[in-house]
Amino acid sequence: MTTQVHTIAVLGGTGAEGSGLALRWARAGHRVTLGSRNPEKAAKVCEELNAVLGSNSIAFSDNRSAASAATIVVLTVPHQAQHATVDEVRKEIAGKILIDATVPLVPPKVARVQLPAGGSAVAEVQRMLGDTVRVVSAFQNVSAHELRDPDHSIDCDVLVCGDDVSAREIVVALARDIGLRAYHAGPICNSAAAEALTSILISLNIRYKVPGAGIRITGIPDAAS
Ligand SMILES: NC(=O)c1ccc[n+]([C@@H]2O[C@H](COP(=O)([O-])OP(=O)(O)OC[C@H]3O[C@@H](n4cnc5c(N)ncnc54)[C@H](OP(=O)(O)O)[C@@H]3O)[C@@H](O)[C@H]2O)c1
Repeated sequence: MTTQVHTIAVLGGTGAEGSGLALRWARAGHRVTLGSRNPEKAAKVCEELNAVLGSNSIAFSDNRSAASAATIVVLTVPHQAQHATVDEVRKEIAGKILIDATVPLVPPKVARVQLPAGGSAVAEVQRMLGDTVRVVSAFQNVSAHELRDPDHSIDCDVLVCGDDVSAREIVVALARDIGLRAYHAGPICNSAAAEALTSILISLNIRYKVPGAGIRITGIPDAAS
């Protein structure tokens, strides 16, 4: 592991994307708690993830308790639930880093770019929270399918957007901890591009019949990434 050990709450960590991130961060040595609205569901997912790890290192609790105990909070809920979930934990995340992986998909046309009126779902959350929380956008382009086997090497880079450079740096390191190359991709408004790319990747998945198309950044030597 390349970073310090963090206490990470993954809100919506019972879902496809959050559980994959949780599994990989726990395996990298971070303290991980799944945040959930449903204790029975969370207990089941937690047990499954810990069985893969061969330990009891992942815990679960309700979203507010998980956020309160964490230093880094990760949001992996559907776009429709993004604002309500952030509102629920607003007090608990004050002063912390919120990593938001939300993609503003509009079912059923998820292979079509349909960004919200504010331009970007994650930038809207930064505006909603003001400067009390350092919001960082990341992982929109990493398919849950790719994350779930912790031994699988993922062929996708991570675009990390946020207005606070030091918060971005922590997220770049957290992505590296789980085997991903990650890049500072500018301020939070640039999250619009990462969010939009996901619909293109879904479109590629459908057209080429693959489970997890990804993106690669070229032209930057590894040491600088
Ligand atoms: N799936 C992917 O490949 C992928 C890739 C990149 C980014 N993302 C983004 O990551 C986020 C999560 O995606 P996902 O596929 O993991 O979603 P998901 O499995 O449908 O949902 C994740 C979790 O969110 C919680 N949730 C669901 N509906 C909710 C609601 N109405 N209110 C509050 N919480 C709710 C649930 O947790 P509890 O029931 O335990 O509370 C659920 O397990 C989305 O914004 C998505 O765009 C997904």
